[in-house]
Order: sequence, then C-alpha cells, then structure tokens
Amino acid sequence: CTWEGVQPSGPYGSIGRLGNWDKSMRVLGIETSCDETAAAVVDENGMRSNAVFDQIDLHALYGGVVPELASRAHIQSISPVIRAALRDAETTADQLDAIAVTTGPGLVGALLVGVSAAKGMALSLGIPLLPIHHMEGHLVSPLLTPGSQITFPFVALLVSGGHTLLVHARAFGDYVILGQTRDDAVGEAFDKGARLLGLGYPGGPAISKLALGGNRAAIPFPRVLLDRTRFDFSFSGLKTSLRTYCHRNQEAMQCTHHRRDVAASYQEALVETLAIKAMAACQKVGADTLVVAGGVGANRRLREILEERGAKLGIFPYFPPLSLCTDNGAMIALAGRMHLERGATGDLSVNATPRWPLVPIET
Ligand code: KG4
Ligand code: ZN
Repeated sequence: CTWEGVQPSGPYGSIGRLGNWDKSMRVLGIETSCDETAAAVVDENGMRSNAVFDQIDLHALYGGVVPELASRAHIQSISPVIRAALRDAETTADQLDAIAVTTGPGLVGALLVGVSAAKGMALSLGIPLLPIHHMEGHLVSPLLTPGSQITFPFVALLVSGGHTLLVHARAFGDYVILGQTRDDAVGEAFDKGARLLGLGYPGGPAISKLALGGNRAAIPFPRVLLDRTRFDFSFSGLKTSLRTYCHRNQEAMQCTHHRRDVAASYQEALVETLAIKAMAACQKVGADTLVVAGGVGANRRLREILEERGAKLGIFPYFPPLSLCTDNGAMIALAGRMHLERGATGDLSVNATPRWPLVPIET
C-alpha cells in the first residue's frame, strides 16, 4: 500500500464556516502536551467551562512525568474530559465554531492524543482546526481572568516543570524572547531538589511547605545570574550545590529544623534568581506589568518577592488564578479565538510538533 498519489480531498482549510470571524464564535480548546488532559469552551464572554484531568498521582511514584504513561492516560481521559467541557459549557458539539488544539511543544505521544481527537471532531463537524503553540496559550491566559484588566504589552515569566521563559509580549503574535533556561526548568529544579531532600513529587509544593518557618538565609546557595545583558537562566548548578550540601552535612540533614532551613534557602535562591531577572527584563523593555504563569507561579514566596521588588520599581506582578496558571484548555481555546479574529482559516493537516520555538531568539 502506498500513499503516493493520494490527493487531499480538498483544501481542508476551507471546510465549514471559515474565514468569517464573528465575535460570538465558540471554540473548544484541547490541551494534552504533558500530564494534564484538558478541554474547555471559550466564547466572547470568556470561559464557559474548563475541564482538567490531572495525572499527578500516576507519575508521583516515579518522581516525574513518564511519557509513555502520560500518553496512555490521555487516551483514557480525552473523551470524558471533552464531554465534561461541553457539558459544563452547556454546549453541544454542533454549537462549536472551531477547535483549537496544542500541537507543540511537548511530549510527542501526549500531543498526538489531543491532535487526533481534535482532528476527528473538526472533520466530523466540518469546522476549522487551529494549531496552537502551548506557550502562546500560557501568554494569553491572563486575559481570561474576569476583571484582570491585563492588556498587551506586558512581560511574561512562564515557569513550569518544562519551561522557564521571559517573554516580551508586545501584542498578540508579536513576542520577543528575553531569556530562557539553558538547562533545567525552574519547576524541574524544585522537583529534583525535593528528591534530594527526600520529599515527594511534585517537588514545588513539597519544598515550599517544608520551607515554611525555615531561615531563608541559612545556607548561601548561589544565584546564577549569567550574562547581565541577557536574561537567561541556569538552575543545574544550584541543584548540584544542594546535592553537595546534603552529602557533606548528612548528620545535620537528619534534623527537621535544619531541613527546613535548607528548603527555605534553596527555594529562596530559585525565586530570587527569577525575580532579579524578571524585574531587570521589565526595566529593559519599559514594561510596568509582569504576568506570571505556569505551575511555579503558585509559589507563595515567589509571589511575595515579586510583589516586594515590583512595588519599589513600579512594576505590577500579576498572577492568574492557579487553574489558569497550570496547563488548561481555556488558554488554548482563547488563543484559537484570537487567531480566528486575525483571519486564521484552520488547517486539518496539522501534526504534533514536539520541538517548536515560540519565536527565533533575538541576539
Ligand atoms: O505548569 P505545570 O502544572 O505543569 C507543567 O510542567 O507544564 O507545572 C508543574 C511544576 C512542577 O515542577 C511543580 O513542582 C511546580 O510546577 N510547582 C511549584 C509549586 N506548585 C507547583 N513550584 C514551586 N512552588 C509551588 N507551590
Ligand atoms: Zn505549560
């Protein structure tokens, strides 16, 4: 059997009600790039639903996301999650005007589940399919919060288990990467640090809980600032210093009181590095709003330090609610609507794109 010579049955991009932007368009967003199976419906009034199935328990045993398990779990949960999103939105499938799906970056097997489901639905309903960049979804997520008053331009600090990015979002579709991690993502640094401290997965909440009441200045872990003219991050050296510290102080590490100090000091080094870079980036581009999104945005100490430093510099840090900070379908649906508004016509030939830079890096 060969596919050679098989012609597409038509320009897929022109199926259904395409190219006619109407602000009441109702879009289903599907997100399966990592370990959340998520779907949501968004229309001109914002989110009508936001259904998420979180696989944390599945991966906790292994101390991190296992790609093969993630794909299998997405296959099990994708249909119920989409049904839940439609039910909560009081929407039937034929009331949808378009489907937006994360096509990358992310785990290829995980992405394929969402992409396949989205293609099947778009094809059967005869509506456009919009490929969305996962990070663009995070970038627009603050616009979903009712009453947030966030508008472009702003600087975004996107911090999760898979990414650490500082982006100057000048307008929708006009992004400049100011900095990104050169090694571990900051969430990964929390997760790996937690493992060294004998804590469970995910490590961020575990470290921040242990750090409560600890002395943040007890151990001078390094703040790796690299080149001051760029805003890149590096966290692997910090993780190595924690490993060395734990190894050299095994006896002291038996004491809960001391472990608290170590957790607080390690957390402080991570969040202070983020804060120094994020504030400097805002100053460089003259932004007065810093949007923080991604799972690490839930960290209380990060919020505190950005608020303290922001107040001194006239920079307003904005944290979307946690349900919008972590991976969700609503941000994908919103990005889809914004693309439709700008004339996108959809494309049924899209595929999973595990590596997909948001924009070329400016040097
Ligand atoms: O955005 P997210 O839910 O999933 C992706 O990675 O896409 O982020 C998960 C990451 C994990 O590394 C987790 O340890 C971290 O966010 N995290 C936190 C906190 N809550 C979650 N890190 C620091 N402090 C927290 N409170
Ligand atoms: Zn994410």
